Amino acid sequence: MNELRAHFEVLAGRWDAFQPPDRGQRLRHLLVPFGPLLSTSGAILEVGTGTGALIPCLRESAPGAGVVSIDLAGEMLRRARQRCPDVAMVQADAHRLPFVVPGFDLVVCHNSFPHFADKPGALLSLARVLRLGGYLLILHDLSRERVNTIHGSGGKAIQNDLLPPGEETKHMLLQAGFSDVQVDDTDEHYVVSGRRSAKAPS
Ligand SMILES: C[S@@+](CC[C@H](N)C(=O)[O-])C[C@H]1O[C@@H](n2cnc3c(N)ncnc32)[C@H](O)[C@@H]1O
Repeated sequence: MNELRAHFEVLAGRWDAFQPPDRGQRLRHLLVPFGPLLSTSGAILEVGTGTGALIPCLRESAPGAGVVSIDLAGEMLRRARQRCPDVAMVQADAHRLPFVVPGFDLVVCHNSFPHFADKPGALLSLARVLRLGGYLLILHDLSRERVNTIHGSGGKAIQNDLLPPGEETKHMLLQAGFSDVQVDDTDEHYVVSGRRSAKAPS
């Protein structure tokens, strides 16, 4: 088991206790600008679901969509399954997704992007499972500075898992074949979105 996965296997039991009591409200707020996109999405892939906190919000905003959630850590998924027993969940790595066709309308990474060891490679992997015209959302319910402070003091496994400046992430998305890239890097949150516009390089 790699060090990152081992870290999250252990953290799973404490993860929900770390979260603020108003988290559900904050997550819903984060999704508001994407309401039209969510409501027209038929198939959504959520990458790095953890204990599945975002899933109820995704389902509220996209009641017609099929949601598939993945995570590296089995113990995170076990808890997510307790929260949302009827959602498909797969233990998988964002860099090596077990989906062969570009069948998703939307891919959502919430608080997981900083942990991708090869960010350009992971973006290509995510692009490959999106249909042309589908969207990628990279969401954080905290500012970049806050995320990086938490990770910097979070132990060896995650101390270098930093969120790049928005313009750097935008450049990576453009390189991976996304267009219409928007960055919202504020004191409250960090949100990057992009539309898959080109055949992802293999
Ligand atoms: C900081 S937690 C966030 C969990 C959840 N999205 C939330 O906000 O409550 C990051 C999650 O991403 C998962 N993760 C990290 N790297 C991953 C990868 N390469 N592929 C899939 N999941 C990954 C971890 O196992 C962990 O559950």
